[in-house]
Amino acid sequence: MDSIAPDRFAASRAWHDRTRRVLAGGVSSQFRALGVFHPMHYVRAEGARIWDADGNELLDYTLSQGPCILGHSHPELVARVQAAVARGQLFAGQHEEEVLLAEALQRLLPCAELLRFASTGSEAAQACIRLARAVTGRQRIIKFDGHYHGWLDGVAFNVAPPGNAAGGAPVPWCSGIAESAAGDLICLPWNDLDAIRMAMTRHGDEVAAIITEPVMCNQGCIEPEPGFLQGLREICDTHGSALIFDEIITGFRLGLGGAQAHYGVTPDLALFGKALGSGFPLAAIAGRARWMAPLQSGAAYHAGTMNGNNACVAAGLATVEILERDDHAALRRIARLGAMLRDGLAQLGVAHGMKLRVQGPGPMFHVGFSGLARATEYRHVAADDRAAYQSFCRGMLLRGVRLIERGLWYVSAAHTAADIVATIAHADAVLRAMAAGRRP
Ligand SMILES: Cc1ncc(COP(=O)(O)O)c(C=O)c1O
Repeated sequence: MDSIAPDRFAASRAWHDRTRRVLAGGVSSQFRALGVFHPMHYVRAEGARIWDADGNELLDYTLSQGPCILGHSHPELVARVQAAVARGQLFAGQHEEEVLLAEALQRLLPCAELLRFASTGSEAAQACIRLARAVTGRQRIIKFDGHYHGWLDGVAFNVAPPGNAAGGAPVPWCSGIAESAAGDLICLPWNDLDAIRMAMTRHGDEVAAIITEPVMCNQGCIEPEPGFLQGLREICDTHGSALIFDEIITGFRLGLGGAQAHYGVTPDLALFGKALGSGFPLAAIAGRARWMAPLQSGAAYHAGTMNGNNACVAAGLATVEILERDDHAALRRIARLGAMLRDGLAQLGVAHGMKLRVQGPGPMFHVGFSGLARATEYRHVAADDRAAYQSFCRGMLLRGVRLIERGLWYVSAAHTAADIVATIAHADAVLRAMAAGRRP
């Protein structure tokens, strides 16, 4: 973080000082503790823009860490949530919109023979793992270096380990994580079928599941190498392990069928969140009947007081209906604008002689400063020049563009071609300054 915040963020700074006295670290989620100057305070958001406590208008490519796929405060979505809440907030029983949403997801998602709603991605990941263990009677889970499946102990290893530690003994994400959880995990490099086959040859009969982000969104936004996801499918079939896709980021962004439809590989279980609820806490567990059977029978438990509440379900149903409308026009627009922005940024890197790696499918992509033109696994991303990206974020924020400090960009249906052109012009100015050795 930059210790010298310009005056134009003074009100946000004052709020942060006050907040730190009541909220631990001044935030409610650790990722918000990152920031160019200090954690920011906001007062309003609409479309592709958000206004901070100082009244600065910022063009937003964070989409609040992904959820706001329709942009902020989409009028139809807000009206539908208001109407749902007017009927009651939480019935603790099933209701029509919940069934309609589940039916829509069953139709759209290849693996969704059965579903369950939850409130967050972290708990949905735990539910999938529990199901895999319940069906197989095995304990061990394979996860990949650099993949994030929520903050809970069972998966909080090798999330962002030092580059040289990747692929080795599981490294806890932070302090306080149960050491015993490491014993159930095998952490491997992603996009490396040989490493996975070797691990499965030794431990296959102990492995309940392989869990993967189908695109490694959280580190480098790396797409699977051709045949990788198919290879995972075959390995899981051979060894009787569950294949779990964590579609918290890819879901409803790479298409309404998620990454599983996009890449043509159907997992046994999958979890969805973020964009599904458009900013309301809604997650879904979707799976083949065989793998959902322990929930169907009640042999395994998944619960949550808030699950299926009216506001979140209404937000999910509205999101899916709006995205599906006019032959998925919003998603096509997001893909087109995202590719335009991604390619524009990549061209700027070349034009300014900066070692910029811009990688990802388009609706979301990653920007990093690296000598490596293309990353295929976590170690490549771990070697990025984070300080250079922090300078870039600083320059963009000072020009009114809000970015995620770890390099992931999201484009929403509310962005316009004019927004993309303006953003590329700002990036041009920032990179020019950096190339000249000036502070952007
Ligand atoms: C791929 C992935 N899985 C799971 C999660 C956890 O979701 P939540 O923050 O809703 O608990 C995240 C959150 O960023 C994520 O990116």
